[in-house]
Amino acid sequence: MKTLFINACIRKESRTLKIAKVVLQNVGGDVEEVCLEKENLRPLNEKSLKERDLLIARQELNNDFFKYAQYFAEADTIIIATPYYDLSFSALLKDYIENINVVGITFGYDEKGNPYSLCKAQKLIYITTSGGKIVSDEFGYGYIKSLCDNFYGIKDVQYIKVECLDMDGMNPQEVINGVIANLK
Ligand SMILES: Cc1cc2nc3c(=O)[nH]c(=O)nc-3n(C[C@H](O)[C@H](O)[C@H](O)COP(=O)(O)O)c2cc1C
Repeated sequence: MKTLFINACIRKESRTLKIAKVVLQNVGGDVEEVCLEKENLRPLNEKSLKERDLLIARQELNNDFFKYAQYFAEADTIIIATPYYDLSFSALLKDYIENINVVGITFGYDEKGNPYSLCKAQKLIYITTSGGKIVSDEFGYGYIKSLCDNFYGIKDVQYIKVECLDMDGMNPQEVINGVIANLK
């Protein structure tokens, strides 16, 4: 079983990452980690968009340009870990999503214009931690859930969130230890 770990955590001491490591142990499988901080992914720009369009037009979908999309499409289980940033997730994750949403690899369109999945995964786990309250799930988890529903065809989407870690009087270490103990 292929487990894809999309690590969008940024800080070395990331609390989100600590939780994700336990979830990864529980899920098991052959883990392939994509550490976005190290991958140097760029948002699409005019040059890369042209390159991508040309490769798609030629149906050169095995090109290294699409390696992230290919990993994603082939994974059985996907785990995403990201801090909650600006009511959403880290920009690294958005760059990654731009790179994997490739027609013909992760999804396609039917003749009516409806997207259908080309992904193998049946399960995705989304993990996030926040400094305050997650005021709405809509722009972080909700967005990923919508991609799972509409593009990737992933039915089992789980959400692990730990909130208020930066609030006065909070002991984040204790909270994280409690979450980890419950997961074990
Ligand atoms: C750039 C930035 C944006 C953030 N935006 C929010 C936010 O909108 N709401 C919130 O509750 N916390 C926010 N935080 C706090 C983080 O969500 C919180 O510290 C989180 O636990 C960090 O995760 P980590 O320990 O995995 O790095 C932000 C922190 C940073 C650095």
